[in-house]
Amino acid sequence: MKAQVGLIIHQEQEAYLEQLLPERDLLLREMERFADEHHIPIADPEVATFLEITVRALQAQRVLEVGTAIGYADIFMARAMAPQGRVVTIDISAEMIGRAKAYAKRAGLEDRVEFHEGPALTVIPTLEGPFDLVYLDAVKGEYRDYLDLALPLMRTGGVVVCDNVLWRGQVASGRLSGEQCRQPTEALRGFNDYFVHHPQLLAQILPVGDGLAYGVKVK
Ligand SMILES: C[S@@+](CC[C@H](N)C(=O)[O-])C[C@H]1O[C@@H](n2cnc3c(N)ncnc32)[C@H](O)[C@@H]1O
Repeated sequence: MKAQVGLIIHQEQEAYLEQLLPERDLLLREMERFADEHHIPIADPEVATFLEITVRALQAQRVLEVGTAIGYADIFMARAMAPQGRVVTIDISAEMIGRAKAYAKRAGLEDRVEFHEGPALTVIPTLEGPFDLVYLDAVKGEYRDYLDLALPLMRTGGVVVCDNVLWRGQVASGRLSGEQCRQPTEALRGFNDYFVHHPQLLAQILPVGDGLAYGVKVK
């Protein structure tokens, strides 16, 4: 999701990197247009590509995604898995899940995506691990709780990726004031600190997309 604050890398670098991205097929382009027209936050293509690369590198069999939206990132991750692989995804919105299911079906990947409707904090404790990859992308102020719930479900050597952790530069600059911006900014600052110093993770914050927290579970 691109929040309207600023760029986290120089505009020239962003344009250069964008033209190096792998071409997306017609369905993914349609999803990008739909999300844009309906103001639905979906992963940046570079983030979705990065997730696909990570799924391949881990040879992931089970992925947990928190925050489905229309299932854009699901398609990148599911297509990188073997037929028995599963992306388990959670969204609070029945409408979003309905759209994501329809897109997964059109992509021929409906058997590889398992949808759960409900608040992530309620759903995660009902899931069974182990997961090779966990992708957090729902309520920014809940990231720490998602991580605490998901870590025990991850295998050692598994990877956790959290999106929007630099929030278009706002997390570093604190440029925007007002309660609406102050709360998520402080929540993300607190989360980033918690994440990179977590005793079970070897972790880093990467300026990919809108900022990715990226960590491997070491114990
Ligand atoms: C940024 S979008 C997800 C984008 C998607 N991960 C992708 O990469 O294309 C965030 C989603 O989280 C969902 N959401 C919001 N609050 C939630 C909650 N408490 N539990 C689960 N999902 C939630 C929203 O309905 C929205 O679809």
